[in-house]
Amino acid sequence: MLNTEFQKIPASYLFSDIAKKVSEYQKAHPDKQVLRLGIGDVTLPLAPAVVAALHDAVEEQAQSATFAGYGPEQGYAFLREAIAEGEYEAIGVSLDSDEVFIGDGAKSDTGNIQELFAADAKVAVADPVYPVYIDSNAMAGRLGDYEGNRWTNLVYLPCNEGNGYKPPFPTEPVDLIYLCYPNNPTGTTLTRDELGGWVQYARDNGAVILFDAAYRAFITDDSIPRSIYEIEGAEEVAIEFGSFSKTAGFTGLRCSWTVVPKALVIDGVSVNAMWNRRQATKFNGTPYIVQKAAAAIYSPEGQVQVQEAVDYYLRNAALIREALLGAGIEAVGGDNSPYVWFKCPGGMDSWAFFDFLLNNAQVVGTPGVGFGPAGEGQFRLSAFGSFETTQEAVARLTGLLPQLSA
Ligand code: MLT
Repeated sequence: MLNTEFQKIPASYLFSDIAKKVSEYQKAHPDKQVLRLGIGDVTLPLAPAVVAALHDAVEEQAQSATFAGYGPEQGYAFLREAIAEGEYEAIGVSLDSDEVFIGDGAKSDTGNIQELFAADAKVAVADPVYPVYIDSNAMAGRLGDYEGNRWTNLVYLPCNEGNGYKPPFPTEPVDLIYLCYPNNPTGTTLTRDELGGWVQYARDNGAVILFDAAYRAFITDDSIPRSIYEIEGAEEVAIEFGSFSKTAGFTGLRCSWTVVPKALVIDGVSVNAMWNRRQATKFNGTPYIVQKAAAAIYSPEGQVQVQEAVDYYLRNAALIREALLGAGIEAVGGDNSPYVWFKCPGGMDSWAFFDFLLNNAQVVGTPGVGFGPAGEGQFRLSAFGSFETTQEAVARLTGLLPQLSA
């Protein structure tokens, strides 16, 4: 017998759907140059310090004295320590390196974490949201039925213009709350007080926060928290995910981390020990050469190089944001974040605008409704293209606007 929960899930993953549409369009119009600001895939090559570390690690693999086979399932100590120091100590958060688990991407880690929780745990998500949080819980059978773009047993926390795209607290009891800041897809951030409110909510209501910090490197405003553990007491109620994908161009290499604090104990059970057990059973570790490459970003030259790439994408984000605002489109995000989120012009729905933009400007974005019902009528553009692509895409998009208002 099959897991029938899969039959309830929309047939294809959002970004696969988009890729299919774009490839069909490109096949039908081979002469057109399609500009991709859809999926948040980076375009700059790896930093020189990362490439050098990769070469060195490959050489090590070529010698019996330095060859590395199976590594620790939790990740090599050198990288766990580098993250504890470079990502956390650096912002005043003290962690033990055995609270940091190395993974092969925040997609896998955020998708897998739900296995630690009860089959009937009640889940809440900000809406719109990165679809992995929802789909992974749907596959596990927690979400009820999918009716009219909504799961019957999922608590949606709608983020819209009215609340500044900040999720309201749940109005019913929930066990798990997924938060992602800087936010994918809206590009918005939470202040320290707002994030503190969520930690307090979780503490008061016996909930666990699953905090996706994959985009933290894009925060330039020091008053915005980069980690949930900057909030006192969060270590008792929150798990955090980080990623090298967007920070250091690892979308192809694959490397991430998950922090499961030892202070997170539920009904006397250590969640850190559970995740350790889960990883030891189902994961044989991120490749040695990739972990070596990731550790290289914490060298002084690695830090400078990676920051240059982040700044490059932030310049794209500012360009998109300013162009949209300048054209009278209400846009959020794009500062402290690589995503810009806006209302589809001309009152179009998300997919209609996606098609319109692809057909008339050959620009690919992501339809907001693909991130959840509250995303209908909205659209996301990613800043991970080249500067030239971004400039051209923005010019084509804004050039179309008179057509829409006519
Ligand atoms: C996105 O475009 O939302 C992300 O690139 C998807 C991902 O990180 O898996």
